Amino acid sequence: MNKNALITGITGQDGAYLAKLLLDKGYTVYGLMARRGSDGLWRLRELGVENEVSLIDGDLMDVTSLIRAMETSKASEVYNLGAQSFVGTSWTQPVLTAQVTGVGAVNVLEAVRIVNPEARFYQASTSEMFGLIQAERQDESTPFYPRSPYGVAKLMAHWATVNYRESFGLHASSGILFNHESPLRGPEFVTRKVALAVARIKLGLQKELRLGNIDAKRDWGFAGDYVEAMWAMLQQEQADDYVIATGVTTTVRDMCEIAFSHVGLNYKDHVVIDPEFFRPAEVDVLLGNPGKAERKLGWKPHTSLNELIAMMVDADMRRLGGAPE
Ligand code: NAP
Ligand code: GDD
Repeated sequence: MNKNALITGITGQDGAYLAKLLLDKGYTVYGLMARRGSDGLWRLRELGVENEVSLIDGDLMDVTSLIRAMETSKASEVYNLGAQSFVGTSWTQPVLTAQVTGVGAVNVLEAVRIVNPEARFYQASTSEMFGLIQAERQDESTPFYPRSPYGVAKLMAHWATVNYRESFGLHASSGILFNHESPLRGPEFVTRKVALAVARIKLGLQKELRLGNIDAKRDWGFAGDYVEAMWAMLQQEQADDYVIATGVTTTVRDMCEIAFSHVGLNYKDHVVIDPEFFRPAEVDVLLGNPGKAERKLGWKPHTSLNELIAMMVDADMRRLGGAPE
């Protein structure tokens, strides 16, 4: 097998796991890399694939760079994972979020259509599109009701993917992924914020952890499991949309309990509620039904929330020089 893949967002959490998965399958992997001042390669380095991927200079907001990336990579599979992906920031930078997360996806679709319409396309859609949920368990037929500028931008990208499939016959699929986490998660997201704080508190480096709405519920899975679903979608004869989730929902509060008790601490002794971390509009609860993915892709999650949180706390203990539990 000798296939070329192009990943936007290769320096992010999912980009790193997907790059590793595709390399292990024998792909030649290209990644779009936006110019940044800081070291963006730490995740690829942690997975040991920093030198195995070819990086192409480009930005989702510059369609010419995407056309060039398609030409250079000769990709037959394109995974659009790049985004301004932090929901909180989408209220303070709504226009940038719309441009990168929404219009950026249209730019990638255009580059695919212009350079190689035979290439298969994956869009990183999100459970955040369900927002104010319209069904207790969300699946592919649940109506959307986004609650953040991020959710709104992702909805545009999602419908653009459906539209390019229907208008131009592109093999364009959308994975509606529920929250997925890992030791490579950005520190602004709540599971990693908690894991890092637990490790620091255990090692005596900090005392308290300030959080917002800990009654919110999320359907959390492991990113390493979820990238397998992305790949599986592009191997199907027909492009389609799939919900990827665990089917279990947990409060932020209970996730804290799991994380602190993993190192023998009680979250109630350390968590402080801080209004700064509440959002202008909240997604109170998400709970996905991954039945279609299981039936059609043969996909199932393999990692429980307890295993996931333990893995994340242990990784942060190790990074800080402490022994994992
Ligand atoms: P992430 O860690 O935040 O990664 C986002 C990636 O996008 C980074 O590589 C980032 O590069 C890149 N990027 C940002 N702005 C860009 C621009 N203007 N041009 C090119 N690249 C740009 O996100 P993730 O957790 O891996 O998620 C991957 C995708 O899945 C995202 O689209 C996210 O919205 C979506 N999603 C995530 C989840 C989840 O729970 N993780 C669930 C559903 C959907 P820099 O680091 O250099 O900025
Ligand atoms: N980040 C953060 N920080 N969230 C907090 C905090 C805090 O201090 N305190 C409570 N929360 C709550 C948020 O209000 C939210 O209800 C929940 O924890 C999860 O927040 P995040 O981890 O930031 O994730 P998210 O659900 O908003 O968004 C993530 O999942 C989406 C899929 O549903 C991101 O990865 C998105 O890119 C992704 O699309």
